[in-house]
Amino acid sequence: MGQRLVDSFGRMHRDLRISVTDRCNFRCTYCMPEEGMAWLPRRELLTYEEIERVARLFVERYGFESIRLTGGEPTVRAHLPVLIEKLSRLPVDLALTTNGVSLRLLARDLAVAGLTRINISLDSLRAERFAAMTRRDSLAEVLAGIDAALDAGLAPVKVNVVVMRGVNDDELVDFAAFGRARGVTVRFIEYMPLDAAGAWTNEQVVGRDEIVATIGSVFPLEAVGRPDGAPAERFRFADGGGEIGVIPSVTNPFCGSCDRVRLTAEGQLRNCLFALTELDLRSLLRRGASDDEIGAAIQQAVATKSAGHLINQPVFIRPPRSMSQIGG
Ligand code: 5AD
Ligand code: SF4
Repeated sequence: MGQRLVDSFGRMHRDLRISVTDRCNFRCTYCMPEEGMAWLPRRELLTYEEIERVARLFVERYGFESIRLTGGEPTVRAHLPVLIEKLSRLPVDLALTTNGVSLRLLARDLAVAGLTRINISLDSLRAERFAAMTRRDSLAEVLAGIDAALDAGLAPVKVNVVVMRGVNDDELVDFAAFGRARGVTVRFIEYMPLDAAGAWTNEQVVGRDEIVATIGSVFPLEAVGRPDGAPAERFRFADGGGEIGVIPSVTNPFCGSCDRVRLTAEGQLRNCLFALTELDLRSLLRRGASDDEIGAAIQQAVATKSAGHLINQPVFIRPPRSMSQIGG
């Protein structure tokens, strides 16, 4: 090892996010159209062997310390525990981001296969609103999935809420109470312009200060800070009831200490959520490139990473992919 992946701004990279599928069993309104999603054909997806090869290269050559599996919805890919078992042999923190709907059945298998951490996306605690937002009436299954993750010993279990003005911003306190009651950390995410419809506007963003003030007026909060390389600012309940996180992706982005790269389900390496170009790792893999060749391409792809996203500036250009196609 010894080598590190450093970009032209001196940021050292150590976190790989791998999308294992672009498919999803939800159709969140801000993420996907109701119908007409054209899923990738199977042959376009990286195989588990190809994913393992790329992951190993990042870990063994460049000292990556964490891998997170995403989607689409990662649990819709067949035999996900098989991939987890392969990746868990690498010396990394192995995490999963899921909509939670399959966890009641899968959590134990995932934990046994070697998964350590899990993030569950949940944008409403109200059954009707949940159904409208995800186009699937599955709140009860997701809540059962959160319990199943806790029971399976996955730790920590974090719940991610994308906060949208006029959609779910009246549930901030409910979510804080939910986290306290269930012993999970709820993380509130500022809504980013990565929606499928391209309908995002700045007015829909509920900023960190407002989130913290609203929750703090009911459950007093103390700032804990933002650990280096972490997107979330942490706040602890003053009465010892746990903590929340706020991810100010729009008002205070963590680009300056970003340490992530992303691999899409079809094997394209993205150096940023908002990147406009990608490195075609799948072609390299499938034409038999050596680790040195692939490593050189990766180094170059990371070296050219931009300083940060420019949301809210006139020059901002939306990437052509939405979150479900990038992987979050
Ligand atoms: N802005 C912020 N977060 C988003 N997510 C999906 N789309 C957006 C967006 N436009 C979240 C999901 C999930 C994670 C993968 O990314 O809800 O928590
Ligand atoms: Fe699926 Fe997540 Fe997109 Fe919702 S936000 S449709 S759960 S990928």
